[in-house]
Amino acid sequence: MQNSNIHISSTNPEVAEAFAQWLINWLKDRAKTTIALSGGSTPKLLFSLLAQQYTKEIDWSKVHLFWGDERCVPPDHGESNFGMTKTLLLNHIDIPAANVHRIRGEAEPAEEATRYGMEITNTVSAIDGCPAFDLIILGMGNDGHTASIFPHQIELLQAKEVCGVAIHPESGQRRITLNGPVLNNAYQVAFLVTGAAKAEKVKTILEHESGFEDLPAAHIKVDGGSPNWFLDTSAASLLNRK
Ligand code: 6PG
Repeated sequence: MQNSNIHISSTNPEVAEAFAQWLINWLKDRAKTTIALSGGSTPKLLFSLLAQQYTKEIDWSKVHLFWGDERCVPPDHGESNFGMTKTLLLNHIDIPAANVHRIRGEAEPAEEATRYGMEITNTVSAIDGCPAFDLIILGMGNDGHTASIFPHQIELLQAKEVCGVAIHPESGQRRITLNGPVLNNAYQVAFLVTGAAKAEKVKTILEHESGFEDLPAAHIKVDGGSPNWFLDTSAASLLNRK
């Protein structure tokens, strides 16, 4: 399949490098930029790469960092997306504290979803009354979830609140997530997806195979079109590439 928004690299590190180059180029000469980061394990290589090799290529004083979702755990918990990002990236870059917009995983979930939604509304410019991030970086779970919108809570794709409270289908862990309308209102979206375990869902989504509409990641659009997908060859291994 031919699609200029699909970027395939051989390995995980090369996906991180390809996205880092894309990000640096996209950020060049931009004024204030709002970015929502993904969590999980996939972005770890990217964050380490940015921290170790590209600290000077990005003017972080112009970047406001948010999260697309957060586990409802304290920031020093091993599963905290903020904690992971702080260790791998934030501790190594010169970014003003006021530019880091942490989801308070330690707070009562419903209250934090409301509070974080207000923080976003007060910081991120809006299109048609809905916050419009300049860039949202997303991952995709093996089940086709993205941010923390899981298949069993696919209604969060239409929720009118900026943020919602999600529940992990296996662990029952509660999460704060950006809801679908905000995910679909961004100027740019980049999925970073690697590993053979994601290949089946990547094919289902990118080739609109049967059942794609049941996968939350399939519903994320940029201006009605396809987001960017940064894949390794394992995650892309089932695609019909002509
Ligand atoms: C999270 C993420 C989530 C993640 C996918 C993929 O909090 O876990 O935001 O949406 O991107 O589950 O996770 P991996 O990168 O660990 O495969």
